[in-house]
Amino acid sequence: MNLGNLVYSIGDPVLTKLLSPPYGGRGQYVYHGPRTSKRVALTFDDGPCVGSTERLLDVLGELGVPGTFFCVGENVAMNPEILERTDREGHVVGSHSQRHSRGAGLSFRDTDHIVDAETRIATVLGKRPALYRPPWGWLTPWEGRRLHRLGYTIVGWDVYTLDWKVPEPDPDDVARQAIADAKPGSIFCFHDAFPLVKEWDKSVTVETMRRIVPELVAGGYEFVTVDRLLDVPAYRPLDDVRAAA
Ligand code: NI
Repeated sequence: MNLGNLVYSIGDPVLTKLLSPPYGGRGQYVYHGPRTSKRVALTFDDGPCVGSTERLLDVLGELGVPGTFFCVGENVAMNPEILERTDREGHVVGSHSQRHSRGAGLSFRDTDHIVDAETRIATVLGKRPALYRPPWGWLTPWEGRRLHRLGYTIVGWDVYTLDWKVPEPDPDDVARQAIADAKPGSIFCFHDAFPLVKEWDKSVTVETMRRIVPELVAGGYEFVTVDRLLDVPAYRPLDDVRAAA
């Protein structure tokens, strides 16, 4: 039995409860920014994909707000030009691992899933990501320690939605829940795309942005990237290579 099957046999929901925000990571996660000012960050996981990520970039441009994109290394390999566009349009790119595997972060030794994604992003952007979101939100204490050793801030969320579901949920419902859960300092977890596929068709996240951004701006909120919200670096220089042990 391989590790992935073992995980399922133990119970995916149990592990998700133990390892994901708000309980996972044993203090190594950052879930939100300061509660003292009305600044919040939009984050988008699992891309980039042709179609869905491009439409999201279009709408963020129209709305005039920046996002933080936690990208999958294999998707970056398929769509480097969309990653370049994301960076060029003022958004921040973080890492969401190489293959979006649950098992890699459970392993006691493996750092390839972190280093390979970093290398892939650095090859396109000429800088190394310094923000990381574990796939599925699963963070073991040992994965947290190696991520910190490799120079990452580990970014969770305090507003979670079901925009990733297939078939897609109603954007009115997603937006209503996101707005109800928003607080000063919130980090919203959304999904622009789908891991390990080149192209994806999705509209719920775009439609949710059209609903929540104007409403929160009217409520006095400012949208910033995660690095600005947390006052941490978004990137490390290309020559800042940290040995993976
Ligand atoms: Ni993901």
